[in-house]
Amino acid sequence: MNESNRHTIRFGAATDVGKVRDHNEDAFLVDRNLEFFVVADGMGGHAAGEVASSIAVNTLREVISRNRDLLEAFREGSLIASNSDVLNLLEHGVQKACAEIHALAEKEPEKRGMGTTLSGLLLIGNRGFIAHVGDSRIYLLRGGRVVQLTEDHSLINELIKRGKLSAADADSSPYKNAVTRAVGVYESVEADTFDFDVLPGDLFLLASDGLTGYLENPEIPAIVERETGVDRLPAAFIELANDRGGKDNITTVVVRVEDEDGKAVELHREINLKIDTIRRMPVFKFLNYKELVRILNITEVAEYDRGQLVIREDDEGEDLFIVLKGVVRVHKGETDIVTLGAGDHFGEMALIDKAPRSASVSAVEPSRVMRIGRTHFFSIIRNEPRLATKLLWSFLQVISERLRTTSAELSGARAAADIEDLTEELFDIEFPEEDQ
Ligand code: CMP
Repeated sequence: MNESNRHTIRFGAATDVGKVRDHNEDAFLVDRNLEFFVVADGMGGHAAGEVASSIAVNTLREVISRNRDLLEAFREGSLIASNSDVLNLLEHGVQKACAEIHALAEKEPEKRGMGTTLSGLLLIGNRGFIAHVGDSRIYLLRGGRVVQLTEDHSLINELIKRGKLSAADADSSPYKNAVTRAVGVYESVEADTFDFDVLPGDLFLLASDGLTGYLENPEIPAIVERETGVDRLPAAFIELANDRGGKDNITTVVVRVEDEDGKAVELHREINLKIDTIRRMPVFKFLNYKELVRILNITEVAEYDRGQLVIREDDEGEDLFIVLKGVVRVHKGETDIVTLGAGDHFGEMALIDKAPRSASVSAVEPSRVMRIGRTHFFSIIRNEPRLATKLLWSFLQVISERLRTTSAELSGARAAADIEDLTEELFDIEFPEEDQ
């Protein structure tokens, strides 16, 4: 077995009824052997909420547990178990939970309409897998940064995304608790599933909205640092939610991947540096931290010597390239079209129209180039509409800028393009300050 594929983890979990409700409809799971953690927040009258959340948690656990062989095969790096097999298994577990909750609600009229949120984190060696429905959340705390890994399926979040509500007004909205997806309300449900690299020192916080409604993301690192043991953290978060009102049931699960070799600080610094580097590149400038982590996971880096060919005109195009370091030239035969440097991309044309490469690209000096394969690129476009929109939008900008430069060169004038404002408005994002 590959030793780097085993981490020691520590965790803690707690749930609390809060200060207003008379019973607790949340459920959670911590399974040390499976390294599987779930939070579920049930809804529905007449005690139906807790029925829904406990069916969800138990069914999901059963499905994962019955397929331990698959998890083990993945851990061993066997070819018979891929990332998508594990994600499909989680997806299947969520659907099974959904069908069971729905079937029970059909049989018992007082439980009609019951449902639950469901956020699960499965760790297999240095890979994490998430399945998520509803407005419970999973956060990752890495190297002092907090990343909300899950996206709320809530009316509020939909309104914010569509630009109809500002994040500042969300707190006072009457729709604060409305979820747009829940497990069990209908026969099936669309679950978000994705996987990512896990590093030593990573800390995960899974929580129901009884906590997240009272917690701002930037507050998390200080709270985590204040408590010495992971097992004490859930209680600390519950206390905070209760101190701030405790309107809802509160559930938290905290999982930390131990930093046994003392490498976490260095690794976190390295990944954050890589992310800061790719964030400055025009094609990635609209992506948030989580999306950048997602992109980093599907890239490979290759080195080219001076004069070495990266792509050949007329070859079939399989990859998209981004220059990390060095300079490359785009040329047809010996005629140069353009030279590209760090942050520039090339090779997108053949990916998009499946035509042969329109030109050759060679390294002018020793260069490092990042490569994203066609299958990965297409899987993002198919499965992650928001990320795809941002990527395609930035591609368009680069391409329109190229066209503008060509036209300007032809007419002798140089047109200025400043569409950052427009983009900020479109995606409700802010550009990081340029560090000069
Ligand atoms: P592709 O056709 O896939 O492979 C060659 C790449 O060279 C092409 O995609 C573009 O990324 C790049 N390229 C071709 N023509 C130009 C141009 N006029 N300006 C900038 N880049 C170009």
